[in-house]
Order: sequence, then C-alpha cells, then structure tokens
Amino acid sequence: MTRPAVSALHARRPGITEDLLGPARDERGRNPYAWLAELLPPTGPVLDLCCGSAALAQHIGAGRYRGVDSSVEELAVAAARRPAAVTSRADALTAEIGGPFVAVTLSMALMLLPLQAVLHRARSWLVPGGVLAATVPMREPTLADTAYNRLLATLGWCGEPFPEPLGALAGRAAASGFALHSDEMRCFAVPIATPANRELLLRSFYLPDQRADQVTTARDVLLEEVAAGRPTIGYPIRRIGLRLRSTADLGPVNVSGEF
Ligand SMILES: C[S@@+](CC[C@H](N)C(=O)[O-])C[C@H]1O[C@@H](n2cnc3c(N)ncnc32)[C@H](O)[C@@H]1O
Repeated sequence: MTRPAVSALHARRPGITEDLLGPARDERGRNPYAWLAELLPPTGPVLDLCCGSAALAQHIGAGRYRGVDSSVEELAVAAARRPAAVTSRADALTAEIGGPFVAVTLSMALMLLPLQAVLHRARSWLVPGGVLAATVPMREPTLADTAYNRLLATLGWCGEPFPEPLGALAGRAAASGFALHSDEMRCFAVPIATPANRELLLRSFYLPDQRADQVTTARDVLLEEVAAGRPTIGYPIRRIGLRLRSTADLGPVNVSGEF
C-alpha cells in the first residue's frame, strides 16, 4: 500500500473508516473510537491528526476537539456528520498547528506517516506529560486460523507492510522524548451479514491493488463465515499510548529523525 493509494481511497470513498469501524464492537460493547478515547485525559484540548470524518469527536466532546486532515472529501463528511466539531484542512507533516494540547490522537492513521516526524511534531504541540494515542490496523501474519487471517491471505495482505510498520516502538519513542505506556491488541466484531457490509470491509483493504480473482475469493471467505452462522468477523486493532516526558526527566533527545 502506498500513500497515493491511501489518498485516492479517501477521495473516492470518504467516511469509509468510520462506516466500517463505527458499528464494530469489542466484548464490552465499545467501538475502536471509544477504546482510543479511554487513553485521553478527561479535560483539555485534543488535536486529532488525520481525523477523517471526525468520528472521534463524539467521544471527546466538540468543545475540546480539533481535527485536521488533508482530504477535502473526508472533511466534507466530517462537516455534514458533526457540524459542531472544529476541523480544518492541513497536512499533518507540514502544517502550522498551534497548541498546546493535552493529547494528540491518530485513529487508524499512525501507520501512514513517518513515525519520527510525527513524534517530533507532537512534541511541539503537547504539554509536558501530554499523551499521543493511536490505533492502527493489524496486518502481521499470525498462526491462528481466523477468518481475518484467511481474508488477508486471500487478498495478499498477510505481512504486507504499511508505509510505517511501527516496529521497535518503545526505543524509537524514547529517542524522541516519549515513554510507551500502553501497547495492546483487541479484536472488534465487524458486521459482514449483508452484501453492503462485506463490500465495505473489502473496499477498506484498498482493493485497486488486488486482482479480480483475489477479490472474488475474499468475498467467498466472508460468505462462508455468514453461511456458518457467523454474522461478524474479528478485526484486530492495535492501540498505542505514548506520554511526553517532562523536561525534568527528558535528558538528551534525538530529534534529528530520518524525515
Ligand atoms: C484510515 S483514515 C482514518 C480516518 C479517521 N482518523 C478515522 O479513524 O475514522 C486515514 C486518514 O488520514 C488522512 N491522511 C493521510 N495522510 C495525511 C496527512 N499527511 N495529513 C493529514 N491527513 C492525512 C486521510 O485523508 C484519511 O482521512
């Protein structure tokens, strides 16, 4: 998957991430946005980078939310769905964005941007002790024979790296002045009962990169699940929480980054 492919998908199908994950639920009834919001301080302004349709705003409160995204199409969906949420068009890597914020969030987006650049910028926006919280999809192959793994294998996505693979995170975060305080994985039940559900899930995998026979086989994987009485598929998501160390415990920090 390339960055241009990501931009093209969001221009063609704005709101797709929220449409897929808004109805997804973990065993406690939370969707991935509610799960991400649990890492945030209860008060103070929050910057939502790569906000898309601003789905996170409803779990933060419009009064303390600022979202930015580079896609006009996504921002149009955000304005229509959440007119009270403050959003603007900006490139997360270059735009002038004021602050300070108690938290910076990247819902399903940290894997799209160079990590060192994001950490370097987040340092300038966050208060000492501020939080950088992110969710990312999982593409790493596991041995488990789950429908999700079969779907990835069918689409040729098993182990396919994102632009930013996010390995060795604790050390890389520490080099930029952040402490890794939480790194977890959770499965969310994504509906696949209807043809519309299944197409939405398949579209979210950036299908232009796939051959027609792979897509057909992937549809069959989902249909077999439904035929077996399973109307949802377990969709694994990683949640990452980083805390900006205060100047007292910061020490020398590598902010040179390779960006
Ligand atoms: C997978 S979507 C996630 C959207 C939203 N955060 C959510 O979880 O519903 C990724 C978003 O990142 C945005 N994006 C990608 N690169 C960006 C950049 N450099 N600056 C700002 N937004 C960017 C895309 O336009 C898209 O809306």
